[in-house]
This record gives sequence, C-alpha cells and structure tokens, in this order.
Amino acid sequence: MTPAELVQQALAARTRAYTPYSGYQVGAAVLTEAGEVVLGCNVENAAYPATICAERVALTAAVAQGKRHFTAIAVATRNGGSPCGTCRQVMMELGPDMTVYIADESGAYRTTTVRALLPDGFDHDKLAG
Ligand code: THU
Repeated sequence: MTPAELVQQALAARTRAYTPYSGYQVGAAVLTEAGEVVLGCNVENAAYPATICAERVALTAAVAQGKRHFTAIAVATRNGGSPCGTCRQVMMELGPDMTVYIADESGAYRTTTVRALLPDGFDHDKLAG
C-alpha cells in the first residue's frame, strides 16, 4: 500500500461522509502493521457536538475490529484541512508512531507525523508517573 493508494482510500471514504450541517466532507484511511486498511468518514449530528470526525471513526472502528497497531493514516478533505485537536489526541493514544498524509480532493498530499502534529502531547506515560 503506497501513500498515494492510502490517500485514494481516504478519498473513497470521504464520499460516504454524512455532513448535512457543514457540507465539509472528510475521509480517513488507517493502515495497520499487517497492511489492512480501515476507513472512516465524518458523521454529523443536529446536536453539533455529537459529530464524530473521520479520523476517530476510522481509528475506533479499527480497534473494534481487533486491530491495534497502525503505521499510517490518510485524511482527505476538499482543501487539505488538517486534523482537529481532538483527533490529534486520539492519534497520539492509538497510533503515536503513525505517519499522517493530509490530502486535498485532487489527491495531492503532504506528509507529517502524529508527533509533529501534537508536540509535547499528553500520553499514557504521564499517568504512570
Ligand atoms: N472534521 C473531521 O472529520 N476531521 C477533522 O479533523 C476536522 C473536522 C469534520 C467535523 C465536521 O463534520 C466537519 O469536519 C466540519 O468541522
């Protein structure tokens, strides 16, 4: 699975976004160490805070499927929007070593990491100390 292929998976997931309120569709594709891909899209709600972002849908679905080791995530929006703070925190929890591909609707993408997106993030080590 190349980065460009993972981005294409995120773009496919994006077509399933449920966004009656914002109209801002987001797709995510998380890649497991075993090479499997789990998809997510944002799912909005009339009670706005109940909305779930695409990245968290993909990551929590993967966990529910018994997958716990992730190497990368691709996130696709119309204009290359960057993951929100809550999603960065969830990425830090479930895939701190992931590479992150942030794509626009053309398939163009930039490459970063969870650690770069959430420097000095709070993680489980802090609870042990
Ligand atoms: N959204 C995501 O799915 N992921 C993000 O990281 C940022 C925002 C969604 C939530 C909402 O449905 C829409 O984009 C506008 O905020």
